[in-house]
Amino acid sequence: MPRSPAPVRWRPGRDRVIPKPHAFASGEGVFALDGGTTMTATDAAAHAARRLQSDLRAATGFTLPTVRPPQPAGIALGIDERMPREGFRLEVAPGGVRITGGGDAGLFYGGQAFRQLLGPGAFRRAPLPRREWAAAASVIEDEPRFGWRGFMLDVARSFRPKHEVLRLIDLLALHRLNVLHLHLTDDQGWRMEISRSPRLTEVGAWRPESQLGHGPQSTVDGRPHGGFYTQDDLREIVAYAAERMITVVPEIETPGHVRAALAAYPELGVTGGPYEVWTRYGITDDVLNAEASTIAFFRHVFDEVMEVFPSTYIGVGGDEARKTQWAADARTQELMRERGIETPNELQAWFIRQLDDHLTAAGRRLYGWDEVLEGPLAPGATIASWRGLRGARVAVARGHDVVLCPDDFAYLDYRQSDAAEEPIPVGTVLSLRDVYDFEPLPGDADEAPRRHVLGVQANAWTEHLDTAARLDYAVFPRLAAFAEVAWSVPGKEWDDFAARLPAQLAIYDAIGVAYRPLTGPHPWQQRPGVPGAPREKADRQAELAALTADLLE
Ligand code: ACM
Repeated sequence: MPRSPAPVRWRPGRDRVIPKPHAFASGEGVFALDGGTTMTATDAAAHAARRLQSDLRAATGFTLPTVRPPQPAGIALGIDERMPREGFRLEVAPGGVRITGGGDAGLFYGGQAFRQLLGPGAFRRAPLPRREWAAAASVIEDEPRFGWRGFMLDVARSFRPKHEVLRLIDLLALHRLNVLHLHLTDDQGWRMEISRSPRLTEVGAWRPESQLGHGPQSTVDGRPHGGFYTQDDLREIVAYAAERMITVVPEIETPGHVRAALAAYPELGVTGGPYEVWTRYGITDDVLNAEASTIAFFRHVFDEVMEVFPSTYIGVGGDEARKTQWAADARTQELMRERGIETPNELQAWFIRQLDDHLTAAGRRLYGWDEVLEGPLAPGATIASWRGLRGARVAVARGHDVVLCPDDFAYLDYRQSDAAEEPIPVGTVLSLRDVYDFEPLPGDADEAPRRHVLGVQANAWTEHLDTAARLDYAVFPRLAAFAEVAWSVPGKEWDDFAARLPAQLAIYDAIGVAYRPLTGPHPWQQRPGVPGAPREKADRQAELAALTADLLE
């Protein structure tokens, strides 16, 4: 008879939680979770209790039945409305666990922290045999620093099947992020079913091949790519995210990055086409024309978007729209004269304003890349400042809310080191430490940025992240550093973060995340022979200074 293995027990850590809690105090002993553990929740906390029960049941196999007070329970959940909505207090003692949240979100985050204390096995989807479960006695008091803790996923360049998006939502929730910005359309693909304009996905969701690598040595892979989400798929994504306290902010690109839409409906373009869904990456000259019918077309698209996505914020893109076709086109010039518009920049601003008015009238708020600041905007318009922080400064000075996602902090497709082994290296070096060290609001920041900076957002552009494994490599563990910038109080310490990181990597291992090892890529994570286009920081900064010169102060 082979000897059965000894029970496996996670050594409960004292302070292994990422993002770093606001306050953490160690106690004596451990709370042991077992088949006899029960739960109790006040009515207001019942929803969060069911979520925690379901997550812990999957990992441990324990049913964790709910009992009614005054019966004693191992885990008790309740709401304290005096606490911030997303804040929580997690008390773990040998005799029981109490999670108190300011609201559903706080309770959910308290539950996530409790799972972290139980160890990586608490993130598995089925129980392993002969496990013992214990969490270190401790008290965590926590609340987020920023209200917008976002992650943008580009599903236009690389369509990610729905189940991958759902998995990503679970991972965002683990990092206490609360916004998933879905970049649904671009030159290379249109990913949202629009009932009124079915060709957007019939034609626009497919391309015959894709660019392989970047820069002058790039080639094409000769392999078709495509896919789209039905409106019901998206409703499911929205509901799954909401259950995990994440709002999905949809984005439909205008007036540039629209080749997929033009391939479907060439009458929306300036040149008349023919257009094809783009197989290359970069910026094309193709933009929407300024006809009233084109504005009406996109207003209808946004009507369907608003039906599916309850988010207050709706993305309209606005970035990198070249003005060459407008400047050269007689019909566009005529339309500009009729409307008293003098320059192509003003035309871009006019275009964005048409959509802004429509969204605002529907009670929503426009969310746009910082190029939308080239013209006037409705007061509710909110800016994603990506070309450095100049967009943020201009937005705040003009009284707009802003989300910080400067590329040298937030672009998770950028190369993680300057080693030759980095797969398809693009952008400037953005190491784990670079992400960690970003300070969104220095201590001496004025009152206006304090009021208008809603938070931060990490962006994953997927030109070169064409599989789930490539995406994992780019995002993790940099998202752990990002989460700490978004959630934790200022005054972070790298050594302290680095000491907590192995526990997070163990959770990634339990979930099955193909993250980048701290020492560099595994051989199978490299892409030898596929060229990249690495940039130097000084060169990129000079480019950004020139690009942001047009913002309207
Ligand atoms: C962007 O990176 N074009 C927003």
